[in-house]
Amino acid sequence: MIDEKIIELLKREKDYISGEEISSHFKISRQALWKHIQELKDLGYNIAAVPHLGYRLESSPDRLFDFEVKNGLDTKVLGRKILYFDSLNSTMDMAMQLGIKGASEGTMILAEAQNKGRGRLGRIWSSPKYKGLYFSLILRPDLLPAQASILTFMAAISICEAVKEVAGIDAQIKWPNDILVHSKKLGGILTEISAETDKVNFVNIGIGINVNNDKKSLISGATSLREQKKEEVSRLELLQEILRRLEANYLLLAKKGSSIIIDKWRQNNLTLGRRVKVYCQSKHIEGEAVDIDKDGGLLIRKDSGLTQKVMTGDVVHCR
Ligand code: BTN
Repeated sequence: MIDEKIIELLKREKDYISGEEISSHFKISRQALWKHIQELKDLGYNIAAVPHLGYRLESSPDRLFDFEVKNGLDTKVLGRKILYFDSLNSTMDMAMQLGIKGASEGTMILAEAQNKGRGRLGRIWSSPKYKGLYFSLILRPDLLPAQASILTFMAAISICEAVKEVAGIDAQIKWPNDILVHSKKLGGILTEISAETDKVNFVNIGIGINVNNDKKSLISGATSLREQKKEEVSRLELLQEILRRLEANYLLLAKKGSSIIIDKWRQNNLTLGRRVKVYCQSKHIEGEAVDIDKDGGLLIRKDSGLTQKVMTGDVVHCR
């Protein structure tokens, strides 16, 4: 706790600040301060210590410590409680356990790496350490179970907005929730729900984004912001902006209903108006993707003229 406060103070001050001033500010001894400085150095903070001048923060590590994420974040609900892990099997597993135990709305589980990151349809989500964003948010929305997939759409548009704001890159959505840049996959969303027949208990939104992965660490068909921009992008700034956008869109959904989210999704999507094949279990449906309905189902006009709705599956854009 005190370590975080010391970092906040050093960040605010920018220049050297004497050990005497810091220790009297926190009402600790000079020796205790020195121990805290060592702890911070062990976490990767580069702190210069100069006799007669004091301490100065030279640089911070590229880590998503909970206090760094909260610093400067003005959200009221999302990310107010953060559980940070250097490594986890999957943030989704932890979110499910915590959701069952009654974790509060907005609780975020964040990992620097995942050993068993999960994607949609049983796929693996590659989660190399310190390269991407891997987190899950626990939401307790006032929605019926059948309406919960709107949250995936909400997450997808929030990610596109944040990527544009922080990296200046136009990302687009392939139905239902693949985030693409130049037809390559930048990120994805996995939604898991705990519900009774007519009541959602909680919904876990898991988000994975390739941020600073270099080309060789990306699987085929994937891209990262670094690959697109040819420079590193701050994972911290991107995460904070995603949380801000998610909260704003979540409030909008609660206030105005799903149509506003669907409209924003339509503006950012790559699927509508195209000929698609949707693979769902062992079958596939082919036709023109004409629209999505209020619950996020994809409406496909088949060559027979009949329109069929699909709620899940893997879309291939034919042309
Ligand atoms: C997809 O298949 O497109 C969805 C990918 C979702 C990956 C994220 S990373 C954080 C969270 N934890 C997981 O194990 N998966 C999601």
